[in-house]
Amino acid sequence: MVCTISGPNGNQAFDPASFAEEKVAEIRRFVGEGKAAIATSGGVDSTVCAALAHRALGDKLVCFFLDTGFMREGEAKEVGGILTSLGLPLRVLQVSDRFMEGLKGKADAESKRIAFRQTFYTVLGEAARAEGCDVLIQGTIAPDWIETAGGIKTQHNVLEQLGVDTRSAFGFRLLEPLLDLYKDQVRRLAVFLGVDLPVAQRQPFPGPGLMVRCIGEVTREKMDLLRKATRIVEGELSKLSPPPKQYFAAVAEDDRRGADERIARSAVGASGKAWYLGARATGVKGDERAYGRMVVVDPGTLSDPAELFWVTDKVIHEDWGVVRVLLSVKERDHGGYAVIVRSVETRDFMTAKPTPVPRAVLERVASSVMEDERVGLVCYDLTSKPPATVEFE
Ligand code: XMP
Repeated sequence: MVCTISGPNGNQAFDPASFAEEKVAEIRRFVGEGKAAIATSGGVDSTVCAALAHRALGDKLVCFFLDTGFMREGEAKEVGGILTSLGLPLRVLQVSDRFMEGLKGKADAESKRIAFRQTFYTVLGEAARAEGCDVLIQGTIAPDWIETAGGIKTQHNVLEQLGVDTRSAFGFRLLEPLLDLYKDQVRRLAVFLGVDLPVAQRQPFPGPGLMVRCIGEVTREKMDLLRKATRIVEGELSKLSPPPKQYFAAVAEDDRRGADERIARSAVGASGKAWYLGARATGVKGDERAYGRMVVVDPGTLSDPAELFWVTDKVIHEDWGVVRVLLSVKERDHGGYAVIVRSVETRDFMTAKPTPVPRAVLERVASSVMEDERVGLVCYDLTSKPPATVEFE
């Protein structure tokens, strides 16, 4: 049966049953007499893809979980439990040192993503070959390759669309059964395949994990701080009703420097202040990648973010090189790092709006995060996508 998908979010025409039937046959044909590997992060896309591949291949599928060192607190154990409970044959690879090594000295967002991808497939290729697998199945979905092919950012799981010959580069043939799907369709497929609803409803977590939220060069200290801040932000924001579509923390060096006077004046008025941060972040302007500056604004009054969403346009009007405008929630002189809270509402992740999180919630987050003396600034990201992206890198 042919499954048609009408337009970017063509839910009406999407039938999970016929889609699964068609893809199971395709996977069997592609793998033939051999064996296939799949890398799962416990995220919605890769877990659903693994369940689909398992339905097609049974014990001819080996499922790898790479512990990259960029998972959240307790996540490696939790994901292991989820995958095992789905009956997937799991091999856990402890490879965080190899990822840290590959990222050494890299602060530029794209260089980090490319280094991550290189390490990811090198490690996975070695492990898959050792298990006798010559095919890699992965859960790349439409927004991944559309944005990567469009040059917005290099998603670690996009290879062939960028002209990478996976057989000569990493030693496997690649199959991507979910390539035409969007997130809401993947969630419907999850339900059809009996993948637990908590997995299907999990908020998205990017393949390179916390690396893309550890802005600039990755260090063990920043990662440690980011993991703690992530726990606090997720804990507080998950209590909002309804919970935001995606919410998380990011960390950067707190090297606030004087912003252009015009920005402070036009964006936050005479009583306000505005600074640039040294680190750059990813955005999208006019469908093109932007890698620009972040401005922190303090309007001098205790405003809710929703009252200040308009400020982003003003700031970017003054300085086109800015991709993110951050509201200062709490600051102090000492401390070397800024923690940024990001929360968005979106349907398909191609565009997004910041969540109107109440000030009181952000204050609670900031107080907890600042119990760590190394944090000098806690901000809330006021920027939509475009001109920012959801993730910082
Ligand atoms: P961006 O930052 O591109 O994020 O606006 C849109 C959605 O995609 C997720 N994301 C990723 N997912 N690998 C993934 O599997 C990646 O490299 C990646 N980068 C972003 C992001 O979390 C959001 O849900």
